[in-house]
Amino acid sequence: MGNVMKKLAIGLVVGGILVGVAKALEFPFVFQMLFLGFAMLGAAVFMLLDAPPLRTMSGGKSLCALVAFYLLLCTVYIAGASFLPQFDPEDEKGKIAKILKSQIDASEKGKTEELIARAKALDEQVKALEVRLKTLGVDQAVPAQQAGIPPAPTTSVATGDFMKLGEEQWQLMECYNCHKLRGEGGKKRGPELDNIGSFLTVDEIKQKITDPKSFMAEGFEKEWEKGRMPDKFKDLMEPKDIQALASWLGTFKNTSVNTPRPIKKK
Ligand code: HEC
Repeated sequence: MGNVMKKLAIGLVVGGILVGVAKALEFPFVFQMLFLGFAMLGAAVFMLLDAPPLRTMSGGKSLCALVAFYLLLCTVYIAGASFLPQFDPEDEKGKIAKILKSQIDASEKGKTEELIARAKALDEQVKALEVRLKTLGVDQAVPAQQAGIPPAPTTSVATGDFMKLGEEQWQLMECYNCHKLRGEGGKKRGPELDNIGSFLTVDEIKQKITDPKSFMAEGFEKEWEKGRMPDKFKDLMEPKDIQALASWLGTFKNTSVNTPRPIKKK
């Protein structure tokens, strides 16, 4: 009996140390108890070693004893395990859904608010247009407005297409290789063109494209003399394309960009 008490005491001391260490390492309470359990289990095993040996069994009796022992172990394990907290995937999913829900709600709300704001802005625009149309005396266009259909201003749509053609030509002719525009391109160091519309008329830009010697960008004397800007566009492009490209470039009047002043040469 004294032996049993000694082993129990050792088990408790070891268990206490384990719990202390586990606490210091911030293990959850369940784990601390688990470590204590292991220590006690170890003590129990050593106590069992001191127990008097069982009588030797044979035949059916020993088989029964084995099965009974097996069942006992199973019961202890299953019962023990069912006392511990269980992992339930549904439970975890529920928690995740809860966390996400508030965020999803917030973004949905944000989207609706944005849509409402945009609808309001559009409404204001329609009203402003109505007022302008009335002052212009184009009253017949108003019914279409009220039906929510903006009147198609044919001329501006056509201009839009023409401008698009101009931009396409810019890409197609690879002017961007030498000229920076809207912060893009210009690897071969031609002048930036963002303010060209402030210096040249559409016709003059046309002239520069068809005959690069016609104008010289200030500070690019060497390049102009060497004929860096290719003299091939009048052969490559249709007159309509040149007109579109020049018209499009003529809209660039960004005075914050340092486009060099063109000097008339011809
Ligand atoms: C291989 C390079 C190169 C290509 C490609 C090129 N250019 Fe130029 N361009 C220059 C150089 C260099 C200058 C400056 C010297 C001069 O004025 O000729 C210039 C000048 C200009 C100017 C006058 C700028 C100013 O501030 O005076 C315009 C406008 C212009 N280019 C338009 C175009 C258009 C439009 C295209 C495409 C159809 C084009 N360039 C293609 C090199 C190029």
